[in-house]
Amino acid sequence: CQTPASSRFFSRIQPSHERSSFGIAFDIDGVILRGRVPIGGSPRALRRLYRESGTLKVPFLFLTNGGGIPESRRAIELSELLGAPISPSQVVQGHTPFENLLTRYENELIVAAGKGEPALVMSEYGFQKVLSLDEYASYFKDIDPVSQYKNWTTDQALYQSGQSNEFTPRYNVLYERVKAAFVVSDPVDWGRDIQVLCDILTSGGLPGQESGQQPPLYFAADDLEYQAAFPSERLGMGAFRIALESVFNRIHHNPLEYVSYGKPNPFVFKNAEAILKRLQSSHHDGYLISNGDPVSQHFEFETLYMIGDNPFVDVKGAWQVGPPWFSILTRTGVFKGKDNHSEFPADLVVDTVEEAVDYILEREC
Ligand code: G3P
Ligand code: MG
Repeated sequence: CQTPASSRFFSRIQPSHERSSFGIAFDIDGVILRGRVPIGGSPRALRRLYRESGTLKVPFLFLTNGGGIPESRRAIELSELLGAPISPSQVVQGHTPFENLLTRYENELIVAAGKGEPALVMSEYGFQKVLSLDEYASYFKDIDPVSQYKNWTTDQALYQSGQSNEFTPRYNVLYERVKAAFVVSDPVDWGRDIQVLCDILTSGGLPGQESGQQPPLYFAADDLEYQAAFPSERLGMGAFRIALESVFNRIHHNPLEYVSYGKPNPFVFKNAEAILKRLQSSHHDGYLISNGDPVSQHFEFETLYMIGDNPFVDVKGAWQVGPPWFSILTRTGVFKGKDNHSEFPADLVVDTVEEAVDYILEREC
């Protein structure tokens, strides 16, 4: 193995020369893409992780706090944008762990907020009675007192004008209480969503009613900011959470209760490790064969690389879990510093994801 001596890399840990197995988790926004545009040589970097036959040479996945469409659709979208075959099992989004709440809410009325198709996301996990916040709000006349000033067409406007044949509520929403609210992806209409979520949460799940026990509230992530196409960072789901919480706590006697998923939670990294093991098992030539193989249960990675752009999310998460996680911070997104981040220093800082992959492959041979 050759240790990269290039000054392009700023590392605080000496690379080991005896690595036998490794995997990679790629953050998406600010590392692989900005908006829908590939950045930092990401398509080239990913190509190096495949054999000529097109099978995976290195187990890798995408570990993003973003979302709003099912993992299967995101995999197709990423494959097209990056020119590499990505499978749904390689896509872990902020809301992916919501699937684990199925036993609790499978047949309960729940609402799903955010951009994209939040209700479809939840339905694909198996939730049977899920409505998007958009559709749910449309069944409550005058719930949004400023809707008439909104000059965009929403599902809500379509439902209320009768143009959508889904106007008849699919569930008895005017009488049945919402059992839980899920913020699946970045909300589009913050004002409306804060209003309607406050209605649901303060009333005990039935807008317009007297106050009741707050239904559980789940956020897919808690990113204050993230890097999109605009030059400076954009407000993320964490900013929305702060806005909702501030308002809720002013209008309600009990403080808002909620649970946030996504990075930097350690369980996200543990789950990524388990998925990478399965990928390793199914792609490593003549090594491990199936997910259920008892050998695969005992297999341990020497190193798992988290390549991210946000010190407070990607680096902090890898740091909290510790080995085998090794953090690599790029300068293509939220972090734009020269050396390393002072509060959450990464194990390595590079300019781009392509440099990160160069480093990993040189180090691992
Ligand atoms: O909305 C997306 C954002 O909060 C973070 O995405 O890929 O940087 O984890 P990512
Ligand atoms: Mg990012």
